[in-house]
Amino acid sequence: MALRLGDLAPDFEQDSSEGRIRFHDWLGDSWGVLFSHPADYTPVCTTELGLTARLQDEFVRRGVKAIALSVDGVESHKGWIQDINETQSTTVNFPILADGDRKVSQLYDMIHPNANETLTVRSLFIIDPKKRVRLIITYPASTGRNFHEILRVIDSLQLTDNHSVATPGNWQDGDDVVIIPSLKDEAVIREKFPKGYKAVRPYLRLTPQPNK
Ligand code: BEZ
Repeated sequence: MALRLGDLAPDFEQDSSEGRIRFHDWLGDSWGVLFSHPADYTPVCTTELGLTARLQDEFVRRGVKAIALSVDGVESHKGWIQDINETQSTTVNFPILADGDRKVSQLYDMIHPNANETLTVRSLFIIDPKKRVRLIITYPASTGRNFHEILRVIDSLQLTDNHSVATPGNWQDGDDVVIIPSLKDEAVIREKFPKGYKAVRPYLRLTPQPNK
């Protein structure tokens, strides 16, 4: 069955551009972003991996490890990484899994046969430190992903895991957030949100981001 939010991210052992990886051990206590792309030496994938490398400081600041995957082999990955570094003015400093036997692709349902019988689509999973799947997105081969959006979701997850809030549509770090509807006790709300809040409706209560 396909993976769903809240499921345990399947563990695996697979080769990569940085050697053999045992996924859960490799993740350790970090958050993880596991993402597949259709093939090495393709233009959109080249820009996506370049972007991820350029955003590496942002991932590290949030305690997140990135790991890419395609069904191409280790030698192909290594050659392509040099191309990415040259053409995208960066240094790829995360592993690319070489999933020639489709082990990981199958575990994570990354091959969608009606789109392409053999290549992975653009799947992406955010995994938390308890190894639970927290975000799943799937993009077609022709559309590169927005990695600033991935960072935005990580910011939201890390905030909402620790405070009784949720983040509104188009929220960016620093914007007001909403108090979760299940929190009703006025005294608790005052204690949790000393900066106050605005009730636009009883179910829509905005408050300044509590960790700022
Ligand atoms: C690309 O990464 O550019 C790409 C890969 C597969 C199909 C279309 C585009």
